[in-house]
Amino acid sequence: MDHPVRPRTVAVIGATGAVGREAMERLHRRRFPVGELRAIASQRSAGGTLPFAGGQVTVQALDEASIRGVEVAILAADAATSREWAPRLVHAGAVVVDNSSAFRMDPQVPLVVPEINGGELAGRPSLVANPNCTTIISLMAAAPLHHAFGLRRITACSYQAVSGAGLPAMQELEGQARQWSAGEPVQSTVFRRPTLFNVFPHDSALLPDGSNEEETKLVKESRRILDLPDLRVSVTCVRVPVRRAHAVALHLEFERRVDPEVAREVLSRAEGVRLVDERSGSPADPLMAAEGDEVLVSRIRRDFGAPEDHGLALWTVGDQLLKGAALNAIQIAERLLGDGASGTRRR
Ligand SMILES: NC(=O)c1ccc[n+]([C@@H]2O[C@H](COP(=O)([O-])OP(=O)(O)OC[C@H]3O[C@@H](n4cnc5c(N)ncnc54)[C@H](OP(=O)(O)O)[C@@H]3O)[C@@H](O)[C@H]2O)c1
Repeated sequence: MDHPVRPRTVAVIGATGAVGREAMERLHRRRFPVGELRAIASQRSAGGTLPFAGGQVTVQALDEASIRGVEVAILAADAATSREWAPRLVHAGAVVVDNSSAFRMDPQVPLVVPEINGGELAGRPSLVANPNCTTIISLMAAAPLHHAFGLRRITACSYQAVSGAGLPAMQELEGQARQWSAGEPVQSTVFRRPTLFNVFPHDSALLPDGSNEEETKLVKESRRILDLPDLRVSVTCVRVPVRRAHAVALHLEFERRVDPEVAREVLSRAEGVRLVDERSGSPADPLMAAEGDEVLVSRIRRDFGAPEDHGLALWTVGDQLLKGAALNAIQIAERLLGDGASGTRRR
């Protein structure tokens, strides 16, 4: 992508983490107009180096000095850090895209997937929230179908990669594979149970109603992004022993009659989506989606659990570190620097 705009001072905050590293790589690969790149993390990482644009940058600690003069900030740390530092960055004149959950339900802060509701960027907000990764990967398929057939209900069951919980979680799974191969006991500190050869309900906090936080994010954020406050959403989120790329089995019910062939046609035209038709090979899987920009969709078929001809079942897979986080954030920043107003909400 070419950017006919002047180079900016860009900060990636949380640069040493799983999302931050991808953000730095994608900023370079997409030729984002970076004049100066600040790789910022906690005090623990200060002085270390990270690769950027064929060279190395020194990691700085997050403080008033390291954010001075920053014009574009990709925040990829925890929600508490975002709550503290996003307002300071905005106050200092930066455009901020936040990957954490800190501002996602704040009505003053747009929650944006550019292909779906990029029109929210028309007013060039200073702070934009990046949605939850499972929400993005689900809605990349569900939103175009909603625009065609009118969504009435989403049922989603996720199969989430361990890197969704950060770099240490991915390293733990890799370590467990090595330990198992060497005949050693498997060590589990991040998830407090083995991820290798295991599957378990999502590790986020359990809420009083029995949902976990991840499931609630998908419910609330889907309603907000699609501007469907009463949308019925049923979710079960599950962690699987996959390094990167989340998969979601979606069952969608629509207002209007829907035909799988027409749905395929709709999705074949959807920006950022690639149909992987299992009838001419294998359905999409996380290894196919990993390190790619697109959300892959397979197994589009009638859902016999919905009223006749009103339901579709499908399988969607996307790299949650990219479209679910770093890439979506950079796409937002690109629009804010470029033609910010492109992309409209369609109903
Ligand atoms: N992983 C995903 O798939 C994904 C998807 C969507 C959204 N997100 C969100 O993106 C954010 C980053 O996630 P991640 O998976 O990349 O986590 P991670 O791998 O654990 O990385 C966390 C990053 O935050 C930095 N950090 C922690 N405390 C800090 C502080 N007080 N000041 C400055 N930096 C601090 C860490 O720096 P040190 O190395 O110095 O500790 C590290 O760079 C989270 O809010 C997460 O919810 C993640």
